[in-house]
Amino acid sequence: MSASSIEGRTLLRREEIASTVERLGAAIAADHPEGVVVVGLLKGGVCLVADLVRNIPVDCSVDFLALMPYGAGRSRVALAKDLDIDVAGRGVVIAVDIVDSGLTVSYVRRLLSERGARSADVCTLLDRRPSRLLPVDLRYVGLAIGTEYVIGYGLDFEERYRNLPLLLATDPETLRRAESANVDSRGER
Ligand code: IMP
Ligand code: MG
Repeated sequence: MSASSIEGRTLLRREEIASTVERLGAAIAADHPEGVVVVGLLKGGVCLVADLVRNIPVDCSVDFLALMPYGAGRSRVALAKDLDIDVAGRGVVIAVDIVDSGLTVSYVRRLLSERGARSADVCTLLDRRPSRLLPVDLRYVGLAIGTEYVIGYGLDFEERYRNLPLLLATDPETLRRAESANVDSRGER
């Protein structure tokens, strides 16, 4: 599978992602000259965190949280993996792939402030504002987008495509159809 074989519109090319992440890292460093804890949200934030921390030229600790959705319409979230680092009194930046409804980052911000973080700002590569259900203040934003579904650079569709080196706006139905056509042509059905 390569990006060129997937039907979609390129939102950010590899070089554009790199310059976006460079900008975000510089802004974070400027706000936290005394150092910062970057908390990445698994799994979507994994590419962003890896590149972001290499663009933060101040003292920087890295940790990860994983959340799992549950309940009716998967509209609630619970902790699947907790932090190892004590964030009490520290300046924290939450690094996420995309803010959609705002549920996830609202939960994480509340958790971090309960843990005594001095600050807990959000750094998101993508901001899908039209889908917001909870208002959230996003301090560092890579790109504001519309309602389109996005894959690549950590973002998945059914656990695939996280490894694409670019961000593609695509239609989940088209992906599903292409996948079942591939399976058919390999005679697996
Ligand atoms: P929120 O809690 O609705 O803001 O959801 C954010 C999470 O949903 C992200 O961290 C992603 O894991 C996932 N997500 C939302 N939109 C997309 C998308 O377009 N592609 C892939 N994952 C997405
Ligand atoms: Mg996902």
